[in-house]
Order: sequence, then C-alpha cells, then structure tokens
Amino acid sequence: MSSKTQKPVIAILGGTGAQGSALALRWANAGYTVVIGSRNPEKATQVCKRISIEVDNANVSYENNLVAAQKGDVVVLCVPYASQRATVEEVQTVLGGKVLIDTTVPLVPPRVARVRLPDGGSAVAAIQSMLGESVSVASAFQNVAAQVLADLSSKVQCDVLVCGNDMEARELVIKLASDISVRAIHAGTIANSAAAEALTSILISINSRYKVHGAGIRITGLDSGE
Ligand SMILES: NC(=O)c1ccc[n+]([C@@H]2O[C@H](COP(=O)([O-])OP(=O)(O)OC[C@H]3O[C@@H](n4cnc5c(N)ncnc54)[C@H](OP(=O)(O)O)[C@@H]3O)[C@@H](O)[C@H]2O)c1
Repeated sequence: MSSKTQKPVIAILGGTGAQGSALALRWANAGYTVVIGSRNPEKATQVCKRISIEVDNANVSYENNLVAAQKGDVVVLCVPYASQRATVEEVQTVLGGKVLIDTTVPLVPPRVARVRLPDGGSAVAAIQSMLGESVSVASAFQNVAAQVLADLSSKVQCDVLVCGNDMEARELVIKLASDISVRAIHAGTIANSAAAEALTSILISINSRYKVHGAGIRITGLDSGE
C-alpha cells in the first residue's frame, strides 16, 4: 500500500469457503483488491469466476495461503478452527507489521450450538499470544452469517464486534466493515473475543430453534445507531 489514502490489498486465507468467499465478494464489490488464499487452485478459480460474474471489474485473484498473505496489506483468516493455528503458522513469517483479522469461532462439531471455548478462553486471543505484538490481531465477523454477507442485495442488519489490543487495527477493521455496509463496533481488547466466539453458538441455536439462517446481534444505545 503506497499511501494512506489508497485501499489496502485484502488477502483472505480460506477465501474459498462460505465466510471467506462472502467477505471477498463484498470487498471486491466495494472496490478493494482481493487475493483469495487457498490450497486448491480449482476451487479458488471457481470462486474468482463467481465474484467476477457478480461484480463488474472485480479485482480478485488467488494464490496459495502463504503468497496471498505476502501480497495482502491486511490478512483475513477464514479457515475452520481445527486448521486455524496451522494456517497461521504457515504464513507467520510474512505477517510482521500487518493486521490479521481472525474470524475464527472455536466450534467443535457436531455440537456447534453449544458454547465450548478452548483453554485460555479465546481462539483468537491464543493467536495473538502466539504471534506476539509485532502482528496486530483483530477479532471480527464471528457473529454475521456467511449467507447474510453473500447476498449483496440485502442490507446486513446485525452488528459485528471488533476486539483487539491495537486501537488503530480495530479502527481499520471498522472502516473495512463500514465499506461493505456492515456496522462494526469497538468491543475491547483481544481477550473479549471470547464473548463474540461464544455468541456464535448461541446464534446457531437460535437459527435452529426459530428456523432461520441469519440470526445476529444489534447493539443499542449508541448515538449513531439506527
Ligand atoms: N460460515 C459462517 O457463516 C461463519 C460465520 C462466522 C464465522 N465463521 C468462521 O469463519 C471461518 C471459516 O468458516 P467457513 O464456514 O467459511 O468454513 P469452511 O467453508 O468449512 O472452510 C473455509 C476454507 O478453509 C479451508 N480449509 C478447510 N480445511 C482446511 C485445513 N485443514 N487446512 C487449511 N485450510 C483449510 C478451505 O479452503 P481451501 O480448500 O481452498 O484451502 C475452505 O474452503 C471459521 O473459523 C468459522 O467459525 C463462519
């Protein structure tokens, strides 16, 4: 990124999946350059094609996760919990000085509607501890369903909680969310990510009980709230 006014390049590791491809679609639609990180070129080609059909002049390409992370100014982690740590370890050498947005929810199938946090409380905070402070980890997008994000024609009605130790990184995530019409809110330090991670199981449980697909949360009492 050559200047502060230029849009950062966004690398999405696991960008072929439900959440990653939906975020890629939205950021491509907002004019960002998106690099999908994937282990599978065929799957990644299909995702890039799909995005290019939906978005005129989409600037989207794919690489393996390491090269994608290298190319991204901001790196977004969208892989299942079981592969979260290994994927970060694979790209760790190129993350220095960057913001890593981690969307991970520590779901343990098959009981995904039951809150189960790892030892230490938060899957995302564990990644910040592993990386040290030279990488700013921000936790976000745990409480918005991929299905909601993937529908460009509908307004995202829920809020996204953003946790992180670095205020500037949180501000950046809030701006990136705002640019895809998602309201994101400062929710404290990275330790607080535990609450967002836990909430997802509650939302899955609500989806199941009420036979809906995109339950979310909305924070009230903010001046700018709608
Ligand atoms: N889905 C949602 O609605 C939602 C909502 C909030 C948060 N999240 C969080 O977002 C993350 C991604 O969720 P998802 O539903 O998009 O997951 P997903 O579709 O199951 O997987 C995402 C991508 O991760 C990669 N992947 C799968 N297994 C892997 C492994 N063993 N090692 C490395 N990469 C692997 C695959 O990409 P390649 O095969 O192309 O490498 C896959 O397309 C999760 O942590 C989830 O908790 C999801």
